[in-house]
Amino acid sequence: CLTPALLPLYKVEDYIVVIIDIFRATSSICYGIENGAQAIIPVSEVEECAAYREKGLNYLLAAERNGEVVAGFDFGNSPFAYTADKVAGKTVVLTTTNGTHALHLSRNAKKIVIGSFLNLTALSNWLKTQEENILMVCAGWKNNFNLEDTLFAGAVIEQLKGDCYVLDDPALAANDLFQIGKNDISQYLSKTSHGERLKKLGIEQDIAFCLQVDIATAIPVLEGEKLVKLA
Ligand code: MLT
Repeated sequence: CLTPALLPLYKVEDYIVVIIDIFRATSSICYGIENGAQAIIPVSEVEECAAYREKGLNYLLAAERNGEVVAGFDFGNSPFAYTADKVAGKTVVLTTTNGTHALHLSRNAKKIVIGSFLNLTALSNWLKTQEENILMVCAGWKNNFNLEDTLFAGAVIEQLKGDCYVLDDPALAANDLFQIGKNDISQYLSKTSHGERLKKLGIEQDIAFCLQVDIATAIPVLEGEKLVKLA
């Protein structure tokens, strides 16, 4: 488990990478794909997202920076914008402060999948079937560590450990963090800086939404430039 700042130290080509941005990018991506979005195209920059406007009317354009919807875009990064009535059958182009950046930095991985509490067990069960090294990339906040992404990595490790995985020190630390918080994850994460940021923006309902466990079974996987449902 590592933050994007440490990614250059790893040869991502050797790993299945799980991208984690609990508040809120990867939770919203999982929810959107679960709800029938045809694809979600993650892009790093707001300008790249805007450029899709010229490519036709078939795209929904979603852009978030610092927790807020960027002016002029259809929506941002709230899971409530990724309901079936809004995204089913549609392709969403998405840029976020940290989540899509982490994805971009990991693009040379063997495979990239998306994790969140929403698809925790489905993701863990699928990982168990893969005979590959796994790297959990915690998007964090602007290259810095955050609690929620690492705690989630620890929740995945909780489901995998014992299954002949060798856990390195970051994985052990993430799992220890999960042990500390697991009895009341929402209470434990209530002190997080991004949680505070979202509360100030009046969107604490998004936090509660992103902490729901196993309400989805879809695993988004990157195919070319698109995140689609893993078959
Ligand atoms: C991000 O990618 O930085 C986040 O998901 C921020 C957010 O929308 O809360």
